[in-house]
Amino acid sequence: MIPDRLNVLLVGGGGREHALAWKIRQSKRLGRLFTTHPENPGLAALARPIDAHFSVREAYRTRQFCIREKINLVVVGPEEPLAQGITDALADPDVLVFGPSKAAAMLEADKAWAKRLMRSSLIPTAEARFFKDAREAAEYVRSREEAESHVVKAAGLAKGKGVIVCKNGPEALDAIERMLIKREFGEAADEVIIEERLQGPEVSVFALTDGRDLVILDACQDHKRLREHDEGPNTGGMGAFSPTPLLNARLMGEIQAKILVPTLDALRREGIEYRGLLYAGIMLTPGGPKVLEFNVRFGDPECQAIVPRMQGDLLPLLWGCAAGPGALASADDVEWDARHSCCIVLASPGYPENPRLGLPITGIAEAEKMPDVQVFHAGTRAADSRKEAEPGALVTSGGRVLSVVALGDTLRQAREKALAAADLIHFEGKQLRRDIGGRS
Ligand code: AMP
Ligand code: GLY
Repeated sequence: MIPDRLNVLLVGGGGREHALAWKIRQSKRLGRLFTTHPENPGLAALARPIDAHFSVREAYRTRQFCIREKINLVVVGPEEPLAQGITDALADPDVLVFGPSKAAAMLEADKAWAKRLMRSSLIPTAEARFFKDAREAAEYVRSREEAESHVVKAAGLAKGKGVIVCKNGPEALDAIERMLIKREFGEAADEVIIEERLQGPEVSVFALTDGRDLVILDACQDHKRLREHDEGPNTGGMGAFSPTPLLNARLMGEIQAKILVPTLDALRREGIEYRGLLYAGIMLTPGGPKVLEFNVRFGDPECQAIVPRMQGDLLPLLWGCAAGPGALASADDVEWDARHSCCIVLASPGYPENPRLGLPITGIAEAEKMPDVQVFHAGTRAADSRKEAEPGALVTSGGRVLSVVALGDTLRQAREKALAAADLIHFEGKQLRRDIGGRS
């Protein structure tokens, strides 16, 4: 049974976590909310700082904190602590953790393992080969048509940047060199995957699961390229919108039956019960929906686009996933605001390669005053000296600085509102895409 009051510790310090905190704070079941990242001013305004050093290697400190503060639920936002095993490390009958176990998080943290799992269960995905040796990888690419396009991926976690989409053989050879010889991606690319390049539009599908039941959330689309018209380098995500016109009930049913359920079944056959959020990045190819990747947590910035449309209480859903098989059934169904959301990311100059930090930011309060607009903090912090900015002012502290989200009756209206709000916020060299959700 879900307790009447839940004390919650939220792990993570980006825009996704600010959006989760904002929603969790609206829960009538919330007792106290703590954050591991009070340096994020958005989180600091909603949650108390954890008074213990947070690290997965020293998880006993967090455990002690949870016991002392009577934390009922730890909600883990980012993939790194999940891949490092935070869920297993904190597991305690009194402290439930939202987020999959270390073994289940391999779905994201080891793309080669995930690919083999999909292959063995006939889950539709791109054809792929795996290589640890640069010479063998290069030989494979040379044995194919020079004009053939490949996608070269680091098997490990690379902060969303370990995927190189190549137009032809020479580009693939270059990507192999960067990953396996120059080691630009470090140990994330100890193993690389060379995939066929699929064609079609992409959607992000999110499902909450307690290990038995699935609750599929409204789908959304994100924009990973830095510049408008999907040009420029891949980023962690420059914007997202929800719902997507690309998915109808039939396609969603197909994705559930051919991808989500078989994946959870395949994991179960490996002895792994998946609990938490399963994120499937899917390409709608002429041959049907195919998996590009799995992630084991909410997308960032997709979370910021979805959460403002979610009606009702998120906390019982998160608790249900953490409590295990059957617990999700006791949470109310998720209802969705029929309006559209559009989330626009404001990024620092130089992002993604070399973001400039410490730039004063103005206009957030004005943007937040607009109706149906939310501003979520990702890479901001309070200025720490008069030299940087006026005392109390905010400066940039990361590549992705803010997510500006607006709701509108149409996607176009949502985008126009989000843009109007984004235009009120200033910092030197601000980067944003004005085409999130198409140019309609
Ligand atoms: P991922 O992090 O695996 O989702 O990859 C990042 C982006 O690379 C995806 O959103 C796609 O745009 C692209 N991508 C990944 N795999 C493929 C593929 N097999 N074919 C075409 N594009 C891909
Ligand atoms: N926006 C993509 C991700 O969170 O991986």
